[in-house]
Amino acid sequence: MGKIELDWANLGFAYRDTACHAEYVFRDGKWDEGKLVESPYIPVHIAATGLHYGQECFEGIKAFRRKDGRCSIFRVWENAKRMAATAERLCIAPVPEETFVEACKRVVAANADYIPPYGTGGSLYIRPLLIGTGAQIGVAPAKEYTFIVLVTPVGAYYKGGLQPVKAIVLDDYDRAAPLGTGHIKCGGNYGGSLYAHEMAKRMGYPVELYLDAKTHTFIDEFATSNFLAITKDGKYVTPDSTTVLPSVTNMTLMQLAKDFGMTVERRPIDFEKEIDDFAEVAACGTAVVVTPVNSITRAGKERVTGPATGCGPVLEKLFHAVQAIQYGEAEDVHGWNEFVDC
Ligand code: COI
Repeated sequence: MGKIELDWANLGFAYRDTACHAEYVFRDGKWDEGKLVESPYIPVHIAATGLHYGQECFEGIKAFRRKDGRCSIFRVWENAKRMAATAERLCIAPVPEETFVEACKRVVAANADYIPPYGTGGSLYIRPLLIGTGAQIGVAPAKEYTFIVLVTPVGAYYKGGLQPVKAIVLDDYDRAAPLGTGHIKCGGNYGGSLYAHEMAKRMGYPVELYLDAKTHTFIDEFATSNFLAITKDGKYVTPDSTTVLPSVTNMTLMQLAKDFGMTVERRPIDFEKEIDDFAEVAACGTAVVVTPVNSITRAGKERVTGPATGCGPVLEKLFHAVQAIQYGEAEDVHGWNEFVDC
């Protein structure tokens, strides 16, 4: 460590080139052994299905430099499983889970100098990317795929860490159709929400909240992360919806909340009926971890969903609990960390 000079404590969530990424190719019905590649560019066929027909998906994971100096990746097997499920829905050749984990470990080890030092609050963000690279002009699955794992050192997604943000519901826009692709991590879900996302930002809201597309009654999720709330009577509630991404961070926080003895409810959440019952609300995901949302505006009406400044006590406790496991400061009783020799 120490060969790379970066402003580790102020990284933000920006892409920086690192030493290398990994590339594995699926051709003639099988995955190759993969290789590390220094250039951050890939030659792609102009008729690749990933470019034309959105046959691509990705994941987000983090690796940490721990208190004891070792390195670990958080819940990487869950992301391996989720990418396999996404691949199946998109008719993409799935990456075997062992290959997925091996690739992540390989790239992290090769970029050990880019893992933010312990104590800076940063992590090495891992972005696995699976794309149809076979040429195909009719709409059909490709015969060739490329699996890439890139890494980049990151800090907080939203500047200011656990500072609250304001959210907005834009009822003129939906994220995911009821029987569509909201539950998988395909790039199209993000591309399709960019327009509303930029509009929300111009209006002064860093995040937009989506309601169920069919009735605009129930809460689905934020543009890039799951919705969770702590009710005024201390329950952890999060939407049970077939159109939200199964967030690994949300799963983690739900387990920690249960470990703390809290009641955890995964169920439909009626926006209008329940929004005033919430003491704390957060967006959660690998990139943002926990971002407190202290108000949600819908149809010009601002609803208070958390303390005006800072973070509510329950979210704060959950955030520190997950970080303590990630940085090796607390016992990993659930076996969530995968160690990397580097
Ligand atoms: C993540 O939380 O890792 C994501 O993939 C969300 C976003 C940055 C696209």
